[in-house]
Amino acid sequence: MKVLVVGNGGREHALAWKISQSPRVTEVFVAPGNAGTARDATNVPIEVSDQAGLIKFAKDNGIDLTVVGPEAPLVDGLVDAMEAEGLRAFGPSGQAAELEGSKVFCKNLLHTANVPTATYRAFRDGDEANRYIRDRYSDPQEPVQVVVKADGLAAGKGVIVCDTREQALVAIDRIASRREFGAAGKELIIEEKLIGQEASVLAITDGETILTLPAAQDHKPAHDGDTGPNTGGMGAYCPTPVIDEEMMQRIEADVLVPVVHAMKRARRPFKGVLYAGLMLTPAGPKVLEFNVRFGDPECQPLLMRLQTDLVDVIEATVDGRLSELEPLQWDERPSICVVMASEGYPGSYEKGREITGLDRADAIEDVKVFHAGTTLDDDKVVSNGGRVLGVTAMGNSISNAKLQAYTAVKEIRWPGAWCRKDISDKARSYVS
Ligand code: AMP
Ligand code: GLY
Repeated sequence: MKVLVVGNGGREHALAWKISQSPRVTEVFVAPGNAGTARDATNVPIEVSDQAGLIKFAKDNGIDLTVVGPEAPLVDGLVDAMEAEGLRAFGPSGQAAELEGSKVFCKNLLHTANVPTATYRAFRDGDEANRYIRDRYSDPQEPVQVVVKADGLAAGKGVIVCDTREQALVAIDRIASRREFGAAGKELIIEEKLIGQEASVLAITDGETILTLPAAQDHKPAHDGDTGPNTGGMGAYCPTPVIDEEMMQRIEADVLVPVVHAMKRARRPFKGVLYAGLMLTPAGPKVLEFNVRFGDPECQPLLMRLQTDLVDVIEATVDGRLSELEPLQWDERPSICVVMASEGYPGSYEKGREITGLDRADAIEDVKVFHAGTTLDDDKVVSNGGRVLGVTAMGNSISNAKLQAYTAVKEIRWPGAWCRKDISDKARSYVS
């Protein structure tokens, strides 16, 4: 069969790499892809927002299955549009993708379904939000522990964690008055700041059956020790000891099952990858957010460990027969992904720097270099984004996987390349 992967990040490279290992797959296309997917699959120059172009390509080329990687085309209803044309596509409908596309929708649903999450208020009006903060914290010096969030998609940037009243007022102004996040800021949320370890629990569901994947931990802040500005994610590892078997059962029972049911009751049945971003607080796990797709970079270490044919899992989801699937098989060994980024990221950065050492890194045992922001310039691989590569490795222990990944990182060079040095160290305090 022929498969089309939509997207151009590290997640989509990992998806294309894994899907192409299926004995049932003859050809994998990636739209628009990057320099890494050009090597493991065939790139087609169609943007993720070009619904008509993607549908035409799928029809003209006899694509049997389309796998949509990023959230924006899902929220825009790409899966609905493909299904309306008789094409098979993996991912939630546009209505179901609102779970990520609107934080207000998500919070309301969590509230209705009694799922633990930070207490919150939603505002349509910036002045009202401003008054709320001023009334609640009348003393400007008083510590303020709130998070201000733009309602819509903002590529991870529309969330502002505030420690002072002034920061909260500035955040409201940026979202509601200056409209820094465009239409995503038409509504905003002010919620309680939660304290604890963060973890990502991803599940695949056809709307009835829920297959939970091993828990992972992302590293959102740019610098070591979780300091510096927030990024799209500087690395991840899986499984994480911060979620043990008992905690996983609690998350399934208290978060995943009620959300899948609530989506069904809301007549927005959810099919695809359900990603719960969680804070493990002293009062138990609480939902920070839901995503409606694989996490990036969590997808890379997850898929490296998956032994089951991913195409079987995807097809069973699309066809609503996940309950018939054998339990997923995983490599016992942990894996980690270290993101290598451009100088300046998450601020502005230069593109077009030539990357060397990729083959030497890839040749190391149990290492795969997934590309994110790369492109081909003639036959040279050059940087083309903020997060450039996701160097992913497995090992007999988390520390061995870490050693292996950083050994590969050392082989790779371009001017200004950098990465966090402490990916997976959060696991240390939990390992006996
Ligand atoms: P989100 O996109 O909603 O996951 O937010 C991005 C990041 O902001 C999360 O990964 C957390 O690190 C942080 N964050 C979001 N909501 C909260 C909260 N209520 N309390 C503390 N940190 C939060
Ligand atoms: N790793 C965080 C995300 O994919 O949103």
